[in-house]
Amino acid sequence: MDKIIDFNLLGAVIPKSITKYPQRGNQNPRACETKGGMINSIGIQSNGIDYYLKEIVPYYKQYRAPLISSISAESIDEFVEMSEIIGAVPKVSALELNISCPNLKSDGRAFGMSDDVTHHLVSRVRKVTDKPILVKLTPNVTDIRSIALAAEGAGADSLIVANTPLAMAIDIHSRQPKIGNIMGGVIWAGY
Ligand SMILES: Cc1cc2nc3c(=O)[nH]c(=O)nc-3n(C[C@H](O)[C@H](O)[C@H](O)COP(=O)(O)O)c2cc1C
Repeated sequence: MDKIIDFNLLGAVIPKSITKYPQRGNQNPRACETKGGMINSIGIQSNGIDYYLKEIVPYYKQYRAPLISSISAESIDEFVEMSEIIGAVPKVSALELNISCPNLKSDGRAFGMSDDVTHHLVSRVRKVTDKPILVKLTPNVTDIRSIALAAEGAGADSLIVANTPLAMAIDIHSRQPKIGNIMGGVIWAGY
């Protein structure tokens, strides 16, 4: 990416979301074109937090652009644990909480689909870091305003609107989705 654009020209850089443990992400294909644009189903490929601290953060030290770390976790406790560790790293200017990922310790819905869960998650992270907290909302809700207000009320400094809207493209010949993994009976792919 730094061969395409000079990172020092950017206001900040948010590299790919990090998970606690390494995970492979979804099988290919992970993206497909549609008439209206492009849909993706990436599944957050990540080398895990240890690799992030050892390799990714030091790499960004060569750039003036502030580094914002995007955190993706499977439970509120894991968000808190990761935020405390990453928030303490001097090069990291702010944390992005990717609350569009599923809450696997609960009902599997994205954290950001509930104002109560959002409020609880952000309040707990607020207690373990003084760094600015950016909350990345999911658009896959009935009323995003209540979730946004819950995040703000819990101490979010900024909102990112928004992650990928759910979408599906069907291959009319195989009658199967063109991309996407099946989680709890739902095909997850986004526009
Ligand atoms: C290839 C690809 C990888 C993405 N990876 C992440 C990610 O790691 N973390 C995240 O929060 N969002 C991720 N997203 C979502 C985008 O950051 C963005 O929120 C989404 O594409 C909607 O914005 P847009 O309409 O401008 O594309 C990814 C999207 C794509 C297409």
